[in-house]
Amino acid sequence: MSSYETQAPNATSPQQERLPILEAVPKSIPRYANGILYGLGGFTLLCFMLLAASGIYMVALGSGHPGFVSGHPELASFSHFVRAVHYWSAQFFMLFMFLHLLRVFFTGAYRRPREVTWMIGVLMMVMAIITGLLGYISRADWSAQWHAVSAKDLFNAAHAGTLLNVLDYPLVFGLHVAVSPLIMIGLMAVHFVLIRLHGVARPY
Ligand code: HEM
Repeated sequence: MSSYETQAPNATSPQQERLPILEAVPKSIPRYANGILYGLGGFTLLCFMLLAASGIYMVALGSGHPGFVSGHPELASFSHFVRAVHYWSAQFFMLFMFLHLLRVFFTGAYRRPREVTWMIGVLMMVMAIITGLLGYISRADWSAQWHAVSAKDLFNAAHAGTLLNVLDYPLVFGLHVAVSPLIMIGLMAVHFVLIRLHGVARPY
């Protein structure tokens, strides 16, 4: 077999030949999308990455929160810093997501054929709110416990009390650190593939 036959047929560069996944990264963006308003989705993603990185650190090495027992007391002040990063990334995640939604709405980018991208976005927003509540309850301090009791009342009033017991701490923590983030990652993957396939919408 000659070396020629081992080459990828459509490769445009040595990097792309070795990593065809690079094709997923756009080579250029339209002029109208070259501004901060079109970067809001990217900022949201950046905040999610910070959330994931700081969250994984806290699960592995402790959060520095007095309610959590950590096997690494020497890391306490750094863990406290990581916890603050997690908190602030969560605030900015919600803020950027909402501003991104407004950008998409006011440029009319939700219209055909991008309805599914929009609906995946709505699902992500609902998931983000639920994950935020679960994270807040995971702090397990007085205010968090009060919110858990209020949320329990709400669920009971909606006849959904047996669906999710927000007073079950291990359940809430497990949902917050494992289940919710994985669902979010799955939704984001579909969101990004659709954006890549449709391209960025031309504004009104
Ligand atoms: C986890 C949260 C989210 C992330 C990380 C995210 C990320 C992105 C990114 C990177 C883009 C490319 C263009 C841009 O940045 O403006 C985009 C486009 C889009 N997003 Fe999101 N998004 C999120 C939530 C949402 C929400 C809440 C909605 C609406 C309910 C939404 C609807 C859309 C639509 C319709 C597009 C296509 C816009 C166009 O073609 O101009 N996204 N998203």
